[in-house]
Amino acid sequence: FNTAGMQPLVPYLLGEKHPMGKRLADVQKCVRTGDIDDVGDNSHLTFFEMLGNWSLGDYFKEDSIRWSYEFLTSKEWLGLDSKWLAVTVFEGNTDAPADDFSASVWESLGFPKHRISRMPAKNNWWAAGATGPCGPDTEIFYWVGEGEPNPASNVKDEEDNWMEIWNNVFMEFNRLEDGSLVNLPAQNVDTGMGLERTTAVLNGKKTVYHTDVFADVLAKIKEIVGEDRYIERSARIIADHTRTGVHMISDGVVPKNVDQGYVLRRLLRRAIREFYKMGYEGQVLAEIGKMYIEKFKDVYVVVKKHAEKILEELTKEEEKFGKTLKDGIREFERLVNGFKIAFERSGQKVTQISGDKAFRLYDTYGFPLEMTLELAREQELTVDVEGFKAAFEKHQELSRTASEGKFKGGLAGSGEMETK
Ligand code: ALA
Repeated sequence: FNTAGMQPLVPYLLGEKHPMGKRLADVQKCVRTGDIDDVGDNSHLTFFEMLGNWSLGDYFKEDSIRWSYEFLTSKEWLGLDSKWLAVTVFEGNTDAPADDFSASVWESLGFPKHRISRMPAKNNWWAAGATGPCGPDTEIFYWVGEGEPNPASNVKDEEDNWMEIWNNVFMEFNRLEDGSLVNLPAQNVDTGMGLERTTAVLNGKKTVYHTDVFADVLAKIKEIVGEDRYIERSARIIADHTRTGVHMISDGVVPKNVDQGYVLRRLLRRAIREFYKMGYEGQVLAEIGKMYIEKFKDVYVVVKKHAEKILEELTKEEEKFGKTLKDGIREFERLVNGFKIAFERSGQKVTQISGDKAFRLYDTYGFPLEMTLELAREQELTVDVEGFKAAFEKHQELSRTASEGKFKGGLAGSGEMETK
């Protein structure tokens, strides 16, 4: 999985010759949890299929923008109405000047000036890490507001009415350790287009969750929990996280407390908790997982090949967490109540959950730290994360010392802890 499309291409962006040439096109499976809190809105997903095309020192800004425009609007290709599109370009900073050139190409294609927003590096500068290839980008958005697009609207002023569908990055810089920028050996293009978002736009839907990738899954969740208890946002989170889980397991990840396994565990437990929020506590992830296996088995061979394993892991994780979730939530509520009682009695307001308490939720009840953070946020509380880490390390030390004596060469020193 990639978080940024460029990850496997960095050597070629740095100048190595790619065996397939200077122009590439790809579909990449991406897992991104950086904006997990946005998942369940209209456009964010933790797993998505990113369509990309690449110029490794071949075409640059002008062709990239013209061809993107042609692909999006020509009747021969996607046939989208250009009035429903808006774009952004980099406004410039001390690293690089404003991307006036890209703006002028968009204008030459008929975009009114006010539909071309100039945005800061936070929005229109793309990099995969603190160092390495990077550059300004131009992003393309589709109208998802009410009714017809307002002719005066643009992304800068009305961000919520526009959904980003494509990002064209002009990779011409390399950021060095000291933070300075030097030119890459060539000017490259890295584009990323979200398949799910593009599908939504083409199907006339305002959200990815109402496309045929998710719609029947949401309907299934409604059927499982019952119409009265159904919460659309919770269902979307379940639909997204389970799909990500299916793909991660198909690629060899299993729920664990470290590395990718932890990401997977966190997603699945989050999905289980959303079911719980809707008052449902039965075994259900495998049922949802089965739907995705059907959808993807002819697209990705690994999904077909590992279908059984996928269902087994989903079930196992649900069994494991299902046992402790309820008690853990109760424990959390007790904690919050304790704070309230203390406040009523002594006027002393506690606003932070201690590291030890967060660790207990993790160790005894299987709550990933992020889940405790989420629960805390819902109650306007914070968590002593440093204290959690200290408790975690102390526990690790203890279990290491214990296991060293018991089974040398076994789990000792693996740094992994088993939650109940
Ligand atoms: N391929 C780039 C990305 O990861 C644009 O979003």
